[in-house]
Amino acid sequence: MRMKEQKGSKLINARLNQFVGQGSTDIPAGYHTSVLLKECMEGLNIRPGGIYVDCTFGGGGHSLAILQNLDENGKLVAFDQDADAEKNVPKDDRVLFIPQNFRHLQRFLRLHRIAKVDGILADLGVSSHQFDEAGRGFSTRFEAELDMRMDQRQVKTAAYILQHFTELQLHKMFEQYGEVTNAKTLARTIVVQRSIAPIRTINEFKAALHTVVKGNPQKYFAQVFQALRIEVNDEFGALKELLQQSALVLNTGGRIAIITFHSLEDRIVKNFFRSGTFDETVIDDIYGHRFENPFKVVTKKPVTPAEKELKENSRSRSAKLRVAELK
Ligand SMILES: C[S@@+](CC[C@H](N)C(=O)[O-])C[C@H]1O[C@@H](n2cnc3c(N)ncnc32)[C@H](O)[C@@H]1O
Repeated sequence: MRMKEQKGSKLINARLNQFVGQGSTDIPAGYHTSVLLKECMEGLNIRPGGIYVDCTFGGGGHSLAILQNLDENGKLVAFDQDADAEKNVPKDDRVLFIPQNFRHLQRFLRLHRIAKVDGILADLGVSSHQFDEAGRGFSTRFEAELDMRMDQRQVKTAAYILQHFTELQLHKMFEQYGEVTNAKTLARTIVVQRSIAPIRTINEFKAALHTVVKGNPQKYFAQVFQALRIEVNDEFGALKELLQQSALVLNTGGRIAIITFHSLEDRIVKNFFRSGTFDETVIDDIYGHRFENPFKVVTKKPVTPAEKELKENSRSRSAKLRVAELK
Protein backbone atom coordinates (compact mmCIF):
# COMPACT_ATOMS: atom_id res chain seq x y z
CA MET A 1 0.00 0.00 0.00
CA ARG A 2 2.76 2.43 1.01
CA MET A 3 4.70 1.63 -2.18
CA LYS A 4 1.63 2.30 -4.26
CA GLU A 5 1.00 5.61 -2.52
CA GLN A 6 4.57 6.80 -2.87
CA LYS A 7 4.36 6.05 -6.57
CA GLY A 8 1.09 8.03 -6.65
CA SER A 9 2.74 10.91 -4.84
CA LYS A 10 5.62 11.07 -7.32
CA LEU A 11 3.12 11.07 -10.15
CA ILE A 12 1.26 13.96 -8.58
CA ASN A 13 4.51 15.91 -8.18
CA ALA A 14 5.26 15.30 -11.85
CA ARG A 15 1.76 16.32 -12.90
CA LEU A 16 1.88 19.40 -10.71
CA ASN A 17 5.12 20.54 -12.31
CA GLN A 18 3.58 20.00 -15.71
CA PHE A 19 0.97 22.68 -15.37
CA VAL A 20 1.85 24.94 -12.49
CA GLY A 21 5.15 26.22 -13.78
CA GLN A 22 8.31 26.69 -11.75
CA GLY A 23 8.91 26.36 -8.02
CA SER A 24 9.32 23.35 -5.79
CA THR A 25 6.28 21.16 -5.19
CA ASP A 26 7.31 18.88 -2.35
CA ILE A 27 4.26 16.95 -1.36
CA PRO A 28 4.77 14.68 1.66
CA ALA A 29 5.19 11.17 0.25
CA GLY A 30 2.37 8.78 1.04
CA TYR A 31 0.07 11.17 2.93
CA HIS A 32 -2.53 11.65 0.22
CA THR A 33 -2.76 11.70 -3.56
CA SER A 34 -4.71 14.80 -4.60
CA VAL A 35 -7.60 14.23 -6.99
CA LEU A 36 -8.77 16.35 -9.94
CA LEU A 37 -5.84 18.70 -9.33
CA LYS A 38 -5.64 20.29 -12.77
CA GLU A 39 -9.44 20.49 -13.01
CA CYS A 40 -9.64 22.29 -9.63
CA MET A 41 -7.04 24.88 -10.70
CA GLU A 42 -8.91 25.48 -13.95
CA GLY A 43 -12.19 25.76 -12.04
CA LEU A 44 -10.82 28.24 -9.50
CA ASN A 45 -9.44 30.45 -12.31
CA ILE A 46 -6.83 31.84 -9.90
CA ARG A 47 -6.02 35.55 -9.79
CA PRO A 48 -2.27 35.70 -8.94
CA GLY A 49 -2.62 38.41 -6.29
CA GLY A 50 -5.82 37.02 -4.76
CA ILE A 51 -6.76 35.37 -1.47
CA TYR A 52 -7.73 31.69 -1.64
CA VAL A 53 -9.03 29.22 0.94
CA ASP A 54 -8.25 25.51 0.91
CA CYS A 55 -10.82 24.19 3.39
CA THR A 56 -9.35 20.66 3.46
CA PHE A 57 -5.55 20.98 3.51
CA GLY A 58 -4.70 17.28 4.17
CA GLY A 59 -1.39 16.44 2.48
CA GLY A 60 -1.36 19.92 0.94
CA GLY A 61 -1.39 18.90 -2.75
CA HIS A 62 -4.18 21.26 -3.76
CA SER A 63 -2.72 24.02 -1.59
CA LEU A 64 0.66 23.70 -3.29
CA ALA A 65 -0.97 23.94 -6.69
CA ILE A 66 -2.81 27.10 -5.59
CA LEU A 67 0.44 28.58 -4.26
CA GLN A 68 2.13 27.89 -7.57
CA ASN A 69 -0.54 29.99 -9.26
CA LEU A 70 -0.22 32.90 -6.81
CA ASP A 71 2.38 35.67 -6.98
CA GLU A 72 4.13 37.21 -3.96
CA ASN A 73 1.04 39.28 -3.10
CA GLY A 74 -1.29 36.30 -3.08
CA LYS A 75 -2.43 34.56 0.09
CA LEU A 76 -3.60 31.08 0.98
CA VAL A 77 -5.71 30.32 4.03
CA ALA A 78 -5.72 26.58 4.74
CA PHE A 79 -8.07 24.78 7.14
CA ASP A 80 -7.81 21.23 8.49
CA GLN A 81 -9.36 19.93 11.66
CA ASP A 82 -6.92 16.99 11.88
CA ALA A 83 -3.76 17.78 13.87
CA ASP A 84 -1.79 15.35 11.65
CA ALA A 85 -2.24 17.65 8.65
CA GLU A 86 -0.36 20.55 10.22
CA LYS A 87 3.05 18.94 9.75
CA ASN A 88 2.51 19.16 5.96
CA VAL A 89 2.15 22.96 5.95
CA PRO A 90 4.89 24.50 3.79
CA LYS A 91 7.14 27.22 5.17
CA ASP A 92 5.76 30.01 3.04
CA ASP A 93 4.85 33.50 4.27
CA ARG A 94 1.79 33.52 2.04
CA VAL A 95 0.20 30.63 4.00
CA LEU A 96 -2.04 30.97 7.02
CA PHE A 97 -2.96 27.58 8.51
CA ILE A 98 -6.08 27.33 10.66
CA PRO A 99 -6.39 24.00 12.55
CA GLN A 100 -10.19 24.15 12.72
CA ASN A 101 -13.35 22.84 11.15
CA PHE A 102 -14.17 24.74 7.95
CA ARG A 103 -17.71 25.21 9.26
CA HIS A 104 -16.17 28.19 11.12
CA LEU A 105 -14.83 29.73 7.88
CA GLN A 106 -16.34 33.18 8.26
CA ARG A 107 -15.47 33.44 11.97
CA PHE A 108 -11.77 32.66 11.44
CA LEU A 109 -11.45 34.86 8.37
CA ARG A 110 -12.91 37.73 10.40
CA LEU A 111 -10.51 36.94 13.27
CA HIS A 112 -7.61 37.32 10.84
CA ARG A 113 -9.13 40.50 9.40
CA ILE A 114 -9.90 38.99 6.01
CA ALA A 115 -13.23 40.35 4.77
CA LYS A 116 -13.45 38.72 1.34
CA VAL A 117 -11.64 35.99 -0.59
CA ASP A 118 -11.31 35.21 -4.30
CA GLY A 119 -11.76 31.46 -4.21
CA ILE A 120 -12.66 28.53 -1.99
CA LEU A 121 -11.76 24.88 -2.45
CA ALA A 122 -13.00 21.88 -0.48
CA ASP A 123 -11.94 18.29 -1.19
CA LEU A 124 -14.32 16.49 1.13
CA GLY A 125 -14.02 13.30 3.16
CA VAL A 126 -10.97 11.65 4.68
CA SER A 127 -7.37 11.57 3.44
CA SER A 128 -5.51 8.36 2.58
CA HIS A 129 -3.40 9.02 5.67
CA GLN A 130 -6.45 8.95 7.93
CA PHE A 131 -7.85 5.89 6.18
CA ASP A 132 -4.57 3.96 6.28
CA GLU A 133 -3.64 4.74 9.90
CA ALA A 134 -4.98 1.66 11.69
CA GLY A 135 -5.46 3.42 15.03
CA ARG A 136 -7.81 6.07 13.62
CA GLY A 137 -10.53 3.46 13.20
CA PHE A 138 -11.71 4.56 9.72
CA SER A 139 -10.97 1.33 7.88
CA THR A 140 -12.54 -2.10 8.09
CA ARG A 141 -9.10 -3.58 7.26
CA PHE A 142 -7.68 -3.14 10.76
CA GLU A 143 -8.54 -3.93 14.36
CA ALA A 144 -8.75 -0.72 16.43
CA GLU A 145 -11.04 1.27 18.69
CA LEU A 146 -14.13 2.53 16.84
CA ASP A 147 -12.94 6.13 16.74
CA MET A 148 -13.33 7.80 13.27
CA ARG A 149 -12.85 11.35 14.53
CA MET A 150 -11.07 13.65 12.10
CA ASP A 151 -10.72 16.14 14.95
CA GLN A 152 -9.31 14.34 17.98
CA ARG A 153 -10.43 17.19 20.27
CA GLN A 154 -14.03 16.17 19.68
CA VAL A 155 -15.68 13.88 22.25
CA LYS A 156 -18.11 11.91 20.05
CA THR A 157 -16.55 8.75 18.57
CA ALA A 158 -18.09 5.93 16.51
CA ALA A 159 -18.16 3.71 19.64
CA TYR A 160 -20.08 6.47 21.48
CA ILE A 161 -22.70 6.59 18.72
CA LEU A 162 -23.17 2.81 18.72
CA GLN A 163 -23.58 2.87 22.50
CA HIS A 164 -25.81 5.94 22.90
CA PHE A 165 -27.93 6.51 19.79
CA THR A 166 -31.52 5.28 19.95
CA GLU A 167 -32.58 2.45 17.66
CA LEU A 168 -34.42 4.93 15.43
CA GLN A 169 -31.40 7.25 15.23
CA LEU A 170 -29.18 4.31 14.24
CA HIS A 171 -31.73 3.15 11.67
CA LYS A 172 -31.98 6.60 10.04
CA MET A 173 -28.20 7.11 10.11
CA PHE A 174 -27.44 3.82 8.29
CA GLU A 175 -30.32 4.36 5.86
CA GLN A 176 -29.51 7.96 4.95
CA TYR A 177 -25.72 8.14 5.14
CA GLY A 178 -24.85 4.56 4.14
CA GLU A 179 -27.86 3.65 1.97
CA VAL A 180 -27.78 0.31 3.86
CA THR A 181 -30.77 -1.73 2.60
CA ASN A 182 -31.52 -3.52 5.89
CA ALA A 183 -30.80 -0.49 8.12
CA LYS A 184 -33.74 -1.27 10.43
CA THR A 185 -32.55 -4.84 11.16
CA LEU A 186 -28.99 -3.56 11.56
CA ALA A 187 -30.09 -0.97 14.14
CA ARG A 188 -32.13 -3.58 16.04
CA THR A 189 -29.14 -5.97 16.10
CA ILE A 190 -26.83 -3.27 17.46
CA VAL A 191 -29.29 -2.42 20.24
CA VAL A 192 -29.59 -6.11 21.22
CA GLN A 193 -25.82 -6.72 21.04
CA ARG A 194 -24.90 -3.65 23.07
CA SER A 195 -27.27 -4.73 25.84
CA ILE A 196 -25.10 -7.88 26.16
CA ALA A 197 -21.71 -6.12 25.90
CA PRO A 198 -20.57 -2.69 24.64
CA ILE A 199 -19.26 -2.60 21.05
CA ARG A 200 -15.90 -0.85 21.30
CA THR A 201 -13.65 -2.13 18.53
CA ILE A 202 -13.88 -2.82 14.80
CA ASN A 203 -13.66 -6.60 15.24
CA GLU A 204 -16.29 -6.57 18.00
CA PHE A 205 -18.55 -4.56 15.67
CA LYS A 206 -18.02 -6.89 12.70
CA ALA A 207 -18.65 -9.94 14.90
CA ALA A 208 -21.85 -8.36 16.30
CA LEU A 209 -23.15 -7.86 12.74
CA HIS A 210 -22.25 -11.19 11.19
CA THR A 211 -25.91 -12.34 11.09
CA VAL A 212 -27.18 -9.21 9.29
CA VAL A 213 -24.53 -8.75 6.58
CA LYS A 214 -26.28 -8.63 3.17
CA GLY A 215 -24.50 -9.36 -0.10
CA ASN A 216 -20.77 -8.76 -0.38
CA PRO A 217 -19.48 -8.32 3.23
CA GLN A 218 -16.74 -5.90 2.17
CA LYS A 219 -19.25 -3.64 0.41
CA TYR A 220 -21.74 -3.97 3.28
CA PHE A 221 -19.17 -2.97 5.93
CA ALA A 222 -17.93 -0.12 3.72
CA GLN A 223 -21.48 1.34 3.63
CA VAL A 224 -21.93 0.86 7.39
CA PHE A 225 -18.56 2.48 8.16
CA GLN A 226 -19.26 5.36 5.78
CA ALA A 227 -22.51 6.14 7.60
CA LEU A 228 -20.78 6.11 10.98
CA ARG A 229 -17.94 8.33 9.72
CA ILE A 230 -20.35 10.89 8.26
CA GLU A 231 -22.26 11.00 11.57
CA VAL A 232 -19.16 11.18 13.81
CA ASN A 233 -17.81 14.15 11.87
CA ASP A 234 -21.19 15.73 11.03
CA GLU A 235 -19.91 15.95 7.48
CA PHE A 236 -23.14 17.11 5.85
CA GLY A 237 -23.79 19.71 8.56
CA ALA A 238 -20.29 21.18 8.11
CA LEU A 239 -20.69 21.20 4.31
CA LYS A 240 -24.01 23.08 4.49
CA GLU A 241 -22.53 25.71 6.82
CA LEU A 242 -19.54 26.15 4.51
CA LEU A 243 -21.77 26.60 1.46
CA GLN A 244 -23.94 29.19 3.20
CA GLN A 245 -20.93 31.19 4.39
CA SER A 246 -19.23 31.03 0.99
CA ALA A 247 -21.78 33.47 -0.45
CA LEU A 248 -20.91 35.94 2.33
CA VAL A 249 -17.11 35.78 2.05
CA LEU A 250 -16.52 35.50 -1.71
CA ASN A 251 -15.75 38.57 -3.80
CA THR A 252 -17.93 39.13 -6.86
CA GLY A 253 -16.57 36.83 -9.56
CA GLY A 254 -14.93 34.63 -6.88
CA ARG A 255 -15.20 30.88 -7.38
CA ILE A 256 -16.05 27.95 -5.12
CA ALA A 257 -14.94 24.44 -6.11
CA ILE A 258 -16.11 21.38 -4.20
CA ILE A 259 -15.04 17.76 -4.67
CA THR A 260 -17.46 15.19 -3.29
CA PHE A 261 -17.22 11.40 -2.99
CA HIS A 262 -20.79 10.52 -2.10
CA SER A 263 -24.05 10.98 -4.03
CA LEU A 264 -25.82 12.69 -1.12
CA GLU A 265 -22.97 15.20 -0.71
CA ASP A 266 -22.97 15.85 -4.45
CA ARG A 267 -26.73 16.49 -4.36
CA ILE A 268 -26.30 19.04 -1.55
CA VAL A 269 -23.66 20.93 -3.57
CA LYS A 270 -25.52 20.68 -6.89
CA ASN A 271 -28.80 21.97 -5.45
CA PHE A 272 -27.12 24.76 -3.50
CA PHE A 273 -25.18 26.02 -6.53
CA ARG A 274 -28.37 25.91 -8.60
CA SER A 275 -30.62 27.71 -6.13
CA GLY A 276 -28.39 29.37 -3.50
CA THR A 277 -30.46 27.85 -0.70
CA PHE A 278 -31.34 24.57 1.02
CA ASP A 279 -35.00 25.57 1.29
CA GLU A 280 -37.33 23.44 -0.80
CA THR A 281 -39.68 26.35 -1.37
CA VAL A 282 -38.18 29.77 -1.91
CA ILE A 283 -40.10 32.46 -0.04
CA ASP A 284 -40.20 36.17 -0.94
CA ASP A 285 -38.73 38.52 1.70
CA ILE A 286 -40.91 40.91 3.73
CA TYR A 287 -40.70 43.53 0.94
CA GLY A 288 -41.95 41.01 -1.63
CA HIS A 289 -38.52 40.65 -3.28
CA ARG A 290 -37.90 37.29 -4.86
CA PHE A 291 -34.85 35.45 -3.43
CA GLU A 292 -32.13 35.56 -6.04
CA ASN A 293 -29.47 32.88 -6.28
CA PRO A 294 -26.13 34.65 -5.68
CA PHE A 295 -24.28 31.93 -7.62
CA LYS A 296 -23.77 31.20 -11.28
CA VAL A 297 -23.08 27.52 -12.02
CA VAL A 298 -19.75 27.09 -13.85
CA THR A 299 -19.83 23.29 -14.26
CA LYS A 300 -23.22 22.33 -15.69
CA LYS A 301 -22.27 18.67 -15.20
CA PRO A 302 -19.90 17.39 -12.49
CA VAL A 303 -16.27 17.05 -13.57
CA THR A 304 -14.95 13.51 -13.01
CA PRO A 305 -11.41 12.08 -13.23
CA ALA A 306 -10.02 11.24 -16.65
CA GLU A 307 -9.12 7.64 -17.54
CA LYS A 308 -5.43 8.28 -16.73
CA GLU A 309 -6.15 9.53 -13.22
CA LEU A 310 -8.53 6.64 -12.55
CA LYS A 311 -5.75 4.22 -13.51
CA GLU A 312 -3.13 5.96 -11.38
CA ASN A 313 -5.33 6.51 -8.33
CA SER A 314 -8.25 4.13 -7.77
CA ARG A 315 -9.43 6.25 -4.82
CA SER A 316 -10.39 8.99 -7.27
CA ARG A 317 -13.13 6.82 -8.79
CA SER A 318 -16.13 8.42 -7.06
CA ALA A 319 -14.80 12.00 -7.11
CA LYS A 320 -17.05 14.71 -8.57
CA LEU A 321 -16.07 18.35 -8.88
CA ARG A 322 -18.59 21.18 -9.09
CA VAL A 323 -17.73 24.85 -9.44
CA ALA A 324 -19.83 27.99 -9.01
CA GLU A 325 -19.09 31.72 -9.22
CA LEU A 326 -20.49 34.52 -7.09
CA LYS A 327 -22.50 36.91 -9.27
C1 LIG B 1 -9.60 14.33 1.08
S1 LIG B 1 -8.54 15.05 2.26
C2 LIG B 1 -7.91 16.47 1.43
C3 LIG B 1 -6.64 16.22 0.69
C4 LIG B 1 -6.00 17.44 0.12
N1 LIG B 1 -6.87 18.13 -0.81
C5 LIG B 1 -4.69 17.10 -0.55
O1 LIG B 1 -4.49 17.48 -1.70
O2 LIG B 1 -3.87 16.46 0.10
C6 LIG B 1 -9.65 15.80 3.37
C7 LIG B 1 -8.96 16.54 4.51
O3 LIG B 1 -9.89 17.49 4.97
C8 LIG B 1 -10.01 17.44 6.36
N2 LIG B 1 -11.40 17.77 6.66
C9 LIG B 1 -12.51 17.08 6.31
N3 LIG B 1 -13.61 17.70 6.75
C10 LIG B 1 -13.18 18.83 7.37
C11 LIG B 1 -13.84 19.91 8.03
N4 LIG B 1 -15.18 19.94 8.15
N5 LIG B 1 -13.09 20.91 8.52
C12 LIG B 1 -11.74 20.89 8.42
N6 LIG B 1 -11.04 19.90 7.83
C13 LIG B 1 -11.76 18.88 7.30
C14 LIG B 1 -9.62 16.03 6.76
O4 LIG B 1 -9.07 16.03 8.05
C15 LIG B 1 -8.57 15.66 5.68
O5 LIG B 1 -7.28 15.95 6.10
